[in-house]
Amino acid sequence: MPESSALPTPVAPLIEGATVRLRPLREDDVPALVRNCRDEQAQRFVPVPLDYTTDDALTFLNHTVPDGWRDGTSHVFAVADPAGDTLLGTVGLHAFRATTADVGINLGPAARGRGIGTAACRVIIDYAVEGLGLRRLYWQAYAGNEPSLALARRLGFTFHAELPAFASLRGEPVDVWLLSLAAADVRAAGA
Ligand SMILES: CC(C)(COP(=O)(O)OP(=O)(O)OC[C@H]1O[C@@H](n2cnc3c(N)ncnc32)[C@H](O)[C@@H]1OP(=O)(O)O)[C@@H](O)C(=O)NCCC(=O)NCCS
Repeated sequence: MPESSALPTPVAPLIEGATVRLRPLREDDVPALVRNCRDEQAQRFVPVPLDYTTDDALTFLNHTVPDGWRDGTSHVFAVADPAGDTLLGTVGLHAFRATTADVGINLGPAARGRGIGTAACRVIIDYAVEGLGLRRLYWQAYAGNEPSLALARRLGFTFHAELPAFASLRGEPVDVWLLSLAAADVRAAGA
């Protein structure tokens, strides 16, 4: 047995925002996670398995997310409604590099267009900049994902480029809109 498997897996901290709660994913989130990931927009713009199943959600909950926290490659949180603690979606930091990471978010259809994406991303940006000391955050949206682009711009991200075939979605090349946000600009906006 590898030595690391004896170590406790770090889990997501609970972070209360004004209108959203970021917390660890739980087993009772699985039905909502499946619904969110089977949604047409998620299937088109997020690299989730096609026809997402309960088994896919359990693999995400029990392996992908804890493995990311353990090996430091991703920090994924549940986005929950503070009143009922029900799952609205997920938000995370991915592809950690020296002083940067990518922000990723996927909200269920009922949670969209109500400012929840803005609120959840503001919390995770604060966690990344003030909690982890990251100096720049990146945002990758598949070309054509206008809601994602609007959200990134609202958060203060600057558009850099459209990168042809930069990503792969289920084996197919996808063009990517790349944006970034400097920690200094996050602090300046908060001051
Ligand atoms: C992209 C996503 C996270 C946006 O979250 P949201 O909670 O709907 O966003 P908000 O309500 O906080 O609004 C942010 C901005 O997006 C705009 N917006 C929201 N829904 C939109 C839509 N369907 N079409 C165009 N713009 C939209 C808002 O008007 C706002 O723009 P503004 O600053 O000009 O007013 C959400 O739609 C989602 O999870 N989509 C499916 C998965 C996905 O695409 N994830 C991103 C992958 S990069």
